[in-house]
Amino acid sequence: MRVIAIQAAQAGGEVLMQHFGRLTQIEEKHLGGLVTEADRNSEQTIVEAIRSTFPRHDVLAEENTYAAEGSPYKWIIDPLDGTTNFAHSFPWFAISIALEVEGELVLGVIYNPVSGEMFVAEKGQGAFLNDQPIKVSTVDSLEQSLLATGFPYDRKISEVNNYDHFITFQQAAQACRRPGAAALDLACVAAGRFDGYWEMKLKPWDVAAGKLLVEEAGGTVTDFKGTPCDIYGTETLASNGQIHDTMLELLSRGATATSAE
Ligand code: IPD
Ligand code: CA
Ligand code: CA
Repeated sequence: MRVIAIQAAQAGGEVLMQHFGRLTQIEEKHLGGLVTEADRNSEQTIVEAIRSTFPRHDVLAEENTYAAEGSPYKWIIDPLDGTTNFAHSFPWFAISIALEVEGELVLGVIYNPVSGEMFVAEKGQGAFLNDQPIKVSTVDSLEQSLLATGFPYDRKISEVNNYDHFITFQQAAQACRRPGAAALDLACVAAGRFDGYWEMKLKPWDVAAGKLLVEEAGGTVTDFKGTPCDIYGTETLASNGQIHDTMLELLSRGATATSAE
């Protein structure tokens, strides 16, 4: 399954690179950002690659609904994470593929087709970048930390928009970034590039593979209260573990909480 997931990610990556800088269809989803022919064609390629080997497995992917097969295996797929970057020819986007077995995440693959970086984690087997083991950073103070975040698509109409937390962390950390692809943000926490990352209102396909990568690289992933992260929930806090409690404390001081909505 790991081999098939990697092959599917590479095949999707080829599709994305064929469209990169040459998009002809960019549509706006209602409060859901953009969707392009690259998102749809990548998803079709990835799902075909998986289903040609595992035709009875379930699939949860961003751009289409797939009939439930009642399988214990569920593939969770974001065929293009970072569509807004992609639509502007900003080269920071990825494919994210995860596998749940009876509700437990066992495999996560995140592929950046621009850099060729392939992040892979298997439950209990560690996290890898292009076959080399990766670990979260050892930074233990927020003042020395580089953080990443993102803002929800409904930020213009919802008060639960992450602006409060952004100001808090921008003041407290060494710096905060908003790179625009949640899966890569999580992969970068796993690789020790970012020390922490938080975001709200993400979807399971944004979080699933990255959550396993961070955990297998020795990090911690919870909601904003410290409860283990539910990929179907609304809050994601990932860190190297060392700065996790400090990040939780600062998140608790925010003016808003997603649970308030
Ligand atoms: C988005 C990106 C972005 C995050 C959004 C996601 P998409 O995914 O991961 O960084 O801030 O919340 O929806 O729409 O490009 O697949
Ligand atoms: Ca996404
Ligand atoms: Ca997407």
